[in-house]
Amino acid sequence: MHVRRIGAVAAAAVAVVAARDLVQKRHALLRNFPVIGHARYALETIGPELRQYIVTSNEEERPFSRDQRSWIYASAKEENNYFGFGTEVDVEHVQGHAYIKQRTFAAGALPDAHDPQAPLPSAKVLGGPRGRAKAFRPASAVNISAMSFGSLSGAAITALNKGAALAGTMHNTGEGGLSPYHRNGGDIVLQIGTGYFGCRNEDGSFNLDRLKDVVASAPVRAIEIKLSQGAKPGLGGMLPGAKVTSEIAAIRGIPAGKDCASPSRHSAFGDVDSMLDFVELLAAETGLPVGVKSAVGEMGFWQELATLMERGDRGVDFVTVDGSEGGTGAAPRIFADSVSLPFRMGFSRVYGTFAELGLTDQLTFIGSGKLGLPENAAVAFALGADMINVAREAMLSIGCIQSQKCHTDKCPTGIATQNPWLTRGLDPASKSTRTAAYLRTLRKELLKVSGAVGVAHPGFITADDIEILNGDYEARTLAGVYGYKDGWGELGPQLADELTALLAAAEPSR
Ligand SMILES: Cc1cc2nc3c(=O)[nH]c(=O)nc-3n(C[C@H](O)[C@H](O)[C@H](O)COP(=O)(O)O)c2cc1C
Ligand code: SF4
Repeated sequence: MHVRRIGAVAAAAVAVVAARDLVQKRHALLRNFPVIGHARYALETIGPELRQYIVTSNEEERPFSRDQRSWIYASAKEENNYFGFGTEVDVEHVQGHAYIKQRTFAAGALPDAHDPQAPLPSAKVLGGPRGRAKAFRPASAVNISAMSFGSLSGAAITALNKGAALAGTMHNTGEGGLSPYHRNGGDIVLQIGTGYFGCRNEDGSFNLDRLKDVVASAPVRAIEIKLSQGAKPGLGGMLPGAKVTSEIAAIRGIPAGKDCASPSRHSAFGDVDSMLDFVELLAAETGLPVGVKSAVGEMGFWQELATLMERGDRGVDFVTVDGSEGGTGAAPRIFADSVSLPFRMGFSRVYGTFAELGLTDQLTFIGSGKLGLPENAAVAFALGADMINVAREAMLSIGCIQSQKCHTDKCPTGIATQNPWLTRGLDPASKSTRTAAYLRTLRKELLKVSGAVGVAHPGFITADDIEILNGDYEARTLAGVYGYKDGWGELGPQLADELTALLAAAEPSR
């Protein structure tokens, strides 16, 4: 009798917890997995102690270590994101580790390192050098990278788009087209992939009128032509028929329920020359800045692009260089592991190709590939990036637990799935504030680290300000490692003056 009563009380307690988990909106995991989801949070709480004795260190897990994820989670929740006691990095021995060299004295005014609202505009006007009608200076040098509705749920896209609006960043649609979930106030970079989803004819070819209709229907600020992405370069995307719901089919302009395979290459152009004609056509017809996104493999493409741009009559407004360490919804292992160059190597080669011809002030350089962590972002800026895009870090900010099931449609946090039961758990309103908080914190940390280097903006950090450990007890500057010549990675004098004036003008409101 006594045992039965205890059992009944326990069952009632579990029912109360389950009911509370199901209605609360803070944690998607608990909404989707009531009661048992608490085990994950309990393990996370005692994780450091457990791992110290039996499992892995805080630095070991991949793609993002526990320390990196903890920093993003804490930043997104506006909790204490500091670390206590000292670094866990074996500082003299971790090959490839970057060391930022602080300065004792600074030449000019420095940003307020503690203001989460401090602006971090792009150092360059997007589309300015080529005189595009709708050229503009992006208000945020940190933006949300391409991830399609289809690979991510509608709830996740909504959270990211609202987060972008709150943080004043741009949100890239990914190659799956512009969905209703992208229409929540955030500025849009419209991506066009080889499938031309949302702007295609029935046979899959590109349709300019449809593109113009899409552009006119939303706050599209720029167009990005996707040539490839770091995690699966040279390979078209594939959305299995089971995931091609009628909603996705309508947005993409494809039949529902059938596998949606993108070709590996574009049909609207076939070489660099015709690609530049296509870029100029889109820019002329829409007035928008137009750029390309690509992973870096053979360099002939970039050399030809830079050479043709040197003539001055045609050109891209930006290049987005994606590193092989970048993420994907789904990719064959060989492509994710072994095709295309990692970010630092790939980016520095591309930058150098334009720098050799004195063209670096003529376009905006954007980087992606685990750059949503301040130390990696600082390296990117030092190498010459003007802006960075973040994808998986933004997913972590809305609750991704790095379970790496994005390709299975079984994402436990409702982010990378179309399963209504799982997406129900993700509350876009509360998650959007987390994305915004994370993006603001990343910008703030970048300003902090710039201040430590004695400059007012990460665009002023140079390739001599950071060293890379290239063996035990030995480090070389980024300039030395990546073969940068004098002035490479830096803004030209006119752009530097403009940025300094812009930051000075923003000073009183900080
Ligand atoms: C779920 C998911 C979907 C993605 N979809 C696209 C896409 O549609 N187009 C694209 O160019 N890149 C896509 N990417 C790549 C990202 O935009 C980004 O370039 C890459 O993940 C590197 O950034 P990260 O390291 O911050 O994640 C996707 C990445 C993820 C994780
Ligand atoms: S499947 Fe795992 S790694 Fe992918 S989004 Fe969901 S929680 Fe994150």
